[in-house]
Amino acid sequence: MFKSLVLSVLFLTVEGFRVMNDVDSKGVTYSPNYPDNYDNNMNVDSSIEVAPNSYIHLTFLDFNTEDPYDYLNIIDANTGVSIVNFTGSLTGTTYDLNVSRVTFRFVSDLTTTYRGYAIRFESILDGMTYEPDNTCPNETHSDSFGIISSPNWPLNYPDNIACSYLLTAPADRVISLEFLAFDTEPEYDYVCVYDGSDKTAPLLGVFSGVEAIPILNTTGPNMFIYFSSDLVSNYSGFSALYLVRSDQDNSRHGVVPSFLQTIGYQKTTTSPRSSTTGIKPLASKVRNGFDASIRCK
Ligand SMILES: *[C@@H]1O[C@H](CO)[C@@H](O)[C@H](O)[C@H]1NC(C)=O
Ligand SMILES: *[C@@H]1O[C@H](CO)[C@@H](O)[C@H](O)[C@H]1NC(C)=O
Ligand SMILES: *[C@@H]1O[C@H](CO)[C@@H](O)[C@H](O)[C@H]1NC(C)=O
Ligand SMILES: *[C@@H]1O[C@H](CO)[C@@H](O)[C@H](O)[C@H]1NC(C)=O
Ligand SMILES: *[C@@H]1O[C@H](CO)[C@@H](O)[C@H](O)[C@H]1NC(C)=O
Repeated sequence: MFKSLVLSVLFLTVEGFRVMNDVDSKGVTYSPNYPDNYDNNMNVDSSIEVAPNSYIHLTFLDFNTEDPYDYLNIIDANTGVSIVNFTGSLTGTTYDLNVSRVTFRFVSDLTTTYRGYAIRFESILDGMTYEPDNTCPNETHSDSFGIISSPNWPLNYPDNIACSYLLTAPADRVISLEFLAFDTEPEYDYVCVYDGSDKTAPLLGVFSGVEAIPILNTTGPNMFIYFSSDLVSNYSGFSALYLVRSDQDNSRHGVVPSFLQTIGYQKTTTSPRSSTTGIKPLASKVRNGFDASIRCK
């Protein structure tokens, strides 16, 4: 399994963008204000630079802009030439940029704003192919927001795994979880979400198959998420945005059109220096009546 070697990742930040420093060749870059909506009339640059003998692999953990008026223009920072533009609903897209330095130019028009994007970037040595981690974490997150995703997402998760994600917040806070994409083997591969820090807490829900899932909210400062797959058949899995907020805060962070709250994905190839930008909306929302809550105990 190839893990990218990292020499350096440099962020040149501008107003409106999250300042990040990352020494291990990967990170997540966000649109201005994320997870709240971006503003109208923006034209904001940020940069990603990896080692000169490397290129940049992108995974769109979340991507929603007003198509075609609000868009992300990715520019080769060495030549100033635009490489590609992205607009619309593209969660689940992966893309290899054949350069080591790029400018992300986010442009919005005078009306209508969406949540924007959360894009993971990874540095890949020239000549190497992107390979997913294929590992199943037991992760703990204590940021004020972030994205969790199943192993390898949007590529298929491994068979026979059990992963967990513990989200923790300050004592006076609550946590909400919004699935951005969801597709598991119906009935056999499932996600349990608990209102607390482990499996003894009350269940907020158990999900399997292809589902439109409401935003889930805890009553306290912890959320525990458990994902399990059986011995056969693997699917894309899930990507989900978590947000820490106060009990009184009922505002909807980052407005996206309701029909896009859970969208499908198109399985992507991993050939180097190629791109897949396709994404398809859910063909149907399958609610299979499966009650797997027994397996969440
Ligand atoms: C991206 O959009 C900008 C602004 O319209 C345009 O100048 C640029 O050529 C586009 N890039 C590509 C690769 O089409
Ligand atoms: C990638 O970039 C290198 C040099 O910068 C070039 O030789 C090669 O043709 C490019 N490959 C693709 C697929 O664009
Ligand atoms: C994660 O926790 C589960 C039990 O909840 C355990 O079976 C599994 O081995 C753990 N995985 C790792 C990578 O530690
Ligand atoms: C997915 O399932 C196929 C067929 O069961 C298996 O060959 C493959 O190794 C699985 N992929 C992963 C990532 O586990
Ligand atoms: C969680 O909170 C959000 C925001 O207040 C609300 O829209 C949503 O309906 C809540 N979810 C459930 C399952 O009640």
